[in-house]
Amino acid sequence: MASKIFPLIKEEAHRQKYGLEMIPSENYVSEDVLKVLGSILTNKYSEGHPGARYYGGNEIIDKIERYCQSLANKLFGTVHAIVQPHSGSPANLAVALELAGPGGTTLGQSLTAGGHLTYGAQASWTGKLFNAIQYGVDPKTWHIDLNEVRTLAKKHQPKFIWVGTTAYPYQIDYKGFAEIADEIECFLVADTSHISGLIVTGYHPSPVPYAHVITTTTHKTLRGPRGGMILVTKKGLEKDPDLGKRLEKSVMPGLQGGPHDHQTAAIAVSLEEALKPSFKTYIGQVVKNAKVLGEELGIPTEVHLLLMSLASFGYGLGYQAQYALEEAGITVNKNTIPGEPASPFYPSGIRLGSAALTTRGMKEKDMVKIASWIKRVLEDIRGLDLPKDQDRRKDFLKEAKTKLRANKNLKEIKEEVKFFAGKFPVPGIQ
Ligand SMILES: Cc1ncc(COP(=O)(O)O)c(C=O)c1O
Repeated sequence: MASKIFPLIKEEAHRQKYGLEMIPSENYVSEDVLKVLGSILTNKYSEGHPGARYYGGNEIIDKIERYCQSLANKLFGTVHAIVQPHSGSPANLAVALELAGPGGTTLGQSLTAGGHLTYGAQASWTGKLFNAIQYGVDPKTWHIDLNEVRTLAKKHQPKFIWVGTTAYPYQIDYKGFAEIADEIECFLVADTSHISGLIVTGYHPSPVPYAHVITTTTHKTLRGPRGGMILVTKKGLEKDPDLGKRLEKSVMPGLQGGPHDHQTAAIAVSLEEALKPSFKTYIGQVVKNAKVLGEELGIPTEVHLLLMSLASFGYGLGYQAQYALEEAGITVNKNTIPGEPASPFYPSGIRLGSAALTTRGMKEKDMVKIASWIKRVLEDIRGLDLPKDQDRRKDFLKEAKTKLRANKNLKEIKEEVKFFAGKFPVPGIQ
């Protein structure tokens, strides 16, 4: 009997093809990436690093990993690449443990202001293992305030500063961060996960001249398989000639065992793709599409991502908006907004992006259409404000979902979305 997983993959393929994927950290990989990811390379164990493995039979795997490292360095302009982290969070943890050590002081952007969990959020081990100091954003402009970063850095003397974001729609001033890190003589680590695709194509300034270390996921705008990389810059090696080796050891044997060789090989394929001129054209379109979405929805963006406050629709509406949009075939994620007035679990915003839609070939005129569906859906969450009394929330949200499931307007939009989205191809789905 065939596995029960196959029909579930078919169902998921249907969802991916006939819906609009607008979670800004997602994308669709190429058929070549899919092929390599599902290859026999998954059979091999290769603990260690190229040329120094604990297992035999790694001659070919060494070639694959070295090739992937060379592509990463070529694409980013770095001098030492570690391509073994299983994903973005372990890459960040490996860097933080090596540079700060347990109990060491770190400085990073807070989760509610748009930073990632791994920069020291309380719910993450990075908030418990380190003396994690957090900076926010200006409550009015939602921009990073370098004066706040400088004040905190001088006061707490962190071992390193994180400059990276997961829900921040503006460009980042790496030079400004470097001035602060250099002033207090600490490391600067740029987590470019969200904007790597923009950086390597010149649509966002590069941190390479300014940061000592770069971490990135490979599966967002870079459009590779899920994975993580740690890259060391020339500036990093000048500060500590051992930095590359130290971080390599922090990943393995420090934190991980065997690398995922099928994943490393698939990352190499995606880096080959990212080095082609067509990738630059793709990212250019991602940025144009995000801009149009922003103009239509009345929110600013300088990258691929938009953070929309729903405060003008009511209180604590992020969850309800995410659910209503999903009922209409549009996938986004609820998100806290700076100075979150409601709750981290039931926040006041949604986060949207253009990377996945653009991979399917959608252009500016399609964004106008999609924005008009989003606006129609959001009208239907008016009046579904989150109860201030926490004990009432569970029952209230259950009722709200039942109401939204029965909503005729959402059903109508879902049919329109299905007809529209079905016309755009998804790599790997017939
Ligand atoms: C900026 C940033 N860093 C790190 C990560 C963690 O990556 P992963 O989910 O692969 O662990 C994310 C994921 O969303 C991210 O946005």
